Amino acid sequence: MTKSARKRVVVLISGRGSNMASLIAAAIDPAFPAEIVGVISNRADARGLEIAATHSIPTKVVSARDYDGRAAHDAAIHEALTQMKAEIVCLAGYMRLLTPDFVQKWMGRMINIHPALLPNFRGLDTHARALATGVRVHGCTVHFVTPEMDDGPIIAQAAVPVLIGDSEETLGQRVLRMEHRLYPLSLRLLAEGRVRMSGGVAVFSNVADETGETAIVSPGERRRR
Ligand code: GRF
Repeated sequence: MTKSARKRVVVLISGRGSNMASLIAAAIDPAFPAEIVGVISNRADARGLEIAATHSIPTKVVSARDYDGRAAHDAAIHEALTQMKAEIVCLAGYMRLLTPDFVQKWMGRMINIHPALLPNFRGLDTHARALATGVRVHGCTVHFVTPEMDDGPIIAQAAVPVLIGDSEETLGQRVLRMEHRLYPLSLRLLAEGRVRMSGGVAVFSNVADETGETAIVSPGERRRR
């Protein structure tokens, strides 16, 4: 794929940045339909910033402390995205609620990864809540971002089993491994125009469901003893 045909993606992070790293890794392949052109963090101490820098990806810190209120903070992020000529925004562990005005500007072009099978377990502490609820299947979801938190049209989901004796940590690691597969796959679909948001749902075209492009169910997870 020619460089100009690749969609320009900016990733928003607040911390560790492992999902961001999975997108960067996928985009190293010149055939991947998107390139990561920038990373924006609301926290200067986000570890993901260092990872981005090692890949020579431009980073910018836009801290809420420097702005008077959420609207002004989001306006500054919008400005940074515009400067980076972002075409797609990926939220990857971005831990602040976005204002409806900002979301509106990027609707259909902004996606998020959530560590649960939505619409179950919106919000925080998803693995602890999954364990407490006793679900036997858990996972992760990539969805379009809409003003309501963790509520937008679902693009793709991956499921993992909840194993007897799982802790929040072991379950979280199993889900995270799937996140790192699911997010690049979802970004690919969006960047290639094979999924779009229309009428409040995700609409797919030219997607081969049978190959697992839109859904991965307990993929290759085996108990090792
Ligand atoms: C991930 O579990 C993601 O699903 C959630 O926040 C976490 C971020 O982890 N939205 P990382 O920063 O990508 O490692």
